[in-house]
Amino acid sequence: MTVQQDVYQQYYTGISLHKFQETKTFKKFNQCLEDIHHNKLKDGFILKEKYHSTADLRPFAYKYDKSIIDVLFESKIPDIFKRLLGHNMFLMLVQIRQSYYQKEKRPYMPWHRDTYFYERTGIVGKVPPIYKIIYYPKFSEAQKNPCLSLCVGSHMKIFPNSNDDYKQINKDNIVSVFNSKKDFVLFNTAAFHHTVPPEDKNGQLRIIYSFCHEHQLKENPDHSELHEIYKKKLENHESLYK
Ligand SMILES: [Fe+2]
Repeated sequence: MTVQQDVYQQYYTGISLHKFQETKTFKKFNQCLEDIHHNKLKDGFILKEKYHSTADLRPFAYKYDKSIIDVLFESKIPDIFKRLLGHNMFLMLVQIRQSYYQKEKRPYMPWHRDTYFYERTGIVGKVPPIYKIIYYPKFSEAQKNPCLSLCVGSHMKIFPNSNDDYKQINKDNIVSVFNSKKDFVLFNTAAFHHTVPPEDKNGQLRIIYSFCHEHQLKENPDHSELHEIYKKKLENHESLYK
């Protein structure tokens, strides 16, 4: 795929798949995620319920291991943003979330947009919309079912009435993201997306990196230390695009 096709695809679909570089840091990163998945946590960290049937790593996921931030730079995430969007994006939040197996298979997040504007509600969510990078590491061959579904291009088409808006989601414009040993998804959170509950009895782990514009960082003051770490690393990062 040429750079231009790549840029067009992100623009129109709102979604793209990328790969982590398989370095020593990435190995360490995967090992940390696998340990968390099996509830073997470092001292000072806990998994605490967030939505039903899920738990988030606390107090701060990014502090669990240096590799959590380092993999972003080794895999040239700042350059991916610059190539696809034409500007830098800034790390606002890192979440590590385990979702547990449940018989009723209820998604913890049904179809939704993180940012939308309807006649009835006005603007809801962050503007401009944030971008998320989500990685669902694959620890076993039993992890076969999708983890996340997305409605392709829906970030470009929003109806003023929510009933009409939801009608655009159909089997022809849905794509799914699966557990992987190195692939991650990058998407515009204004697009419709929904979580798929795990079929595997061991559940499903994901790491979610949320990226925003620099001026939006102040909307999340509780994570200002993370913002500074990322900014400093970005300043020292040898960008492919000056
Ligand atoms: Fe969301």
